[in-house]
Amino acid sequence: MATLETIVNGMKMPNPFIIGSGPPGTNANVICKAFDEGWGAVICKTVSLDASKVINVQPRYARLRSRTSGEIYGWENIELISDRSFDVWIDEFKQIKDKHPEGCLIASVMEEYNRDAWQEIIGRCEAAGVDGFELNMSCPHGLPERRMGAAMGENPEILKEVCGWAMEAATKPVWAKMTPNVAHIEEPSRSSLAAGCDGISAINTIRSVIGVDLDTLRPEPSVEGYTTPGGYSCQAVMPIALRMCMEIATMIGKEFPGRTLSGLGGIETGGDAAQFILLGSDTVQVCTGVMKMGYRCVKPMCDELLTFMEKHKFETLNDFRGHSLQFFTTHSDLVRRQTEARAAKQAAFERKKMILTDGQWDGDDFVDQSDALARG
Ligand SMILES: Cc1cc2nc3c(=O)[nH]c(=O)nc-3n(C[C@H](O)[C@H](O)[C@H](O)COP(=O)(O)O)c2cc1C
Repeated sequence: MATLETIVNGMKMPNPFIIGSGPPGTNANVICKAFDEGWGAVICKTVSLDASKVINVQPRYARLRSRTSGEIYGWENIELISDRSFDVWIDEFKQIKDKHPEGCLIASVMEEYNRDAWQEIIGRCEAAGVDGFELNMSCPHGLPERRMGAAMGENPEILKEVCGWAMEAATKPVWAKMTPNVAHIEEPSRSSLAAGCDGISAINTIRSVIGVDLDTLRPEPSVEGYTTPGGYSCQAVMPIALRMCMEIATMIGKEFPGRTLSGLGGIETGGDAAQFILLGSDTVQVCTGVMKMGYRCVKPMCDELLTFMEKHKFETLNDFRGHSLQFFTTHSDLVRRQTEARAAKQAAFERKKMILTDGQWDGDDFVDQSDALARG
């Protein structure tokens, strides 16, 4: 009987499906709902020590829909990190752990470029009972104006230093969440792992402009007629997330064996999750999918992933994690493989056409063989 249970950096989860940081983990009420519905773990909306600096606007989402089915496949947000006070969060972390002692609760945290602030936030969240951390080094909008989020994640040097501060303070597992808005995702991932982080989460949203309204001529989402570039998520980003996870997993395999990867970006089905795991992810996160489908979507996702595993006779996630990484190579190697395969096929064809004795006549190649004998 296949099982979805997994232990990642010592954190025990009933399944690999984690609520990704964002609205689906924005307060104790919704986090408890996620545990009730069977999510493997929850990463809270990113918290910081001084929420008074976090001021959101409305509208802050804009969505793209299929022209034929109307289904949402692309989602931009200009939402900031949590605007709820840190003291309230600390109380809620305790309440959540009291109610769900088995539930794996991961605190997403972000701070300014200040060692004391990072160490204070880690220490106080740990004291409140969280099971692990995700360092948000990747929010692409708003926070970089304060030199936070992606402003740190795009700079491997700063990233290494700040991850190092977090690691000095943390006794629980720490993942660093990467921004996809870089040329080579391995570089910031490598810096975070070199600083001692236990794992990587990838990807945060892709910096985007979702569109311009052709009646008002204003870009969206329009706040008093103006906007700012936001973060793109949902189904449309999955191919980019898969590519980046493949690159990170390959790097981890070579340089940091034993460290982990939590893949996210557009996951909505068990089949989507299977692809991230085949490319080396230990766990998978869902954020926008929950905003489209609700918390109950975890049940069909688990069922689909189990059906996939049973079809291939995989008993555990370990049986297929990273299996498909071996099938990536360079373009010149693809050319070499194809040239060799075509030559082998041609040689086999020529061999089959040659009739030396009557025993070699073949029903499938009968016409070609007759033709060859006519040509001599
Ligand atoms: C509305 C919204 C708010 C988000 N807020 C956060 C956040 O506070 N911290 C964070 O690390 N990521 C945040 N994210 C990014 C998601 O966690 C995730 O990295 C990204 O959306 C890609 O995954 P998805 O397609 O499953 O949403 C947010 C995403 C959305 C759509």
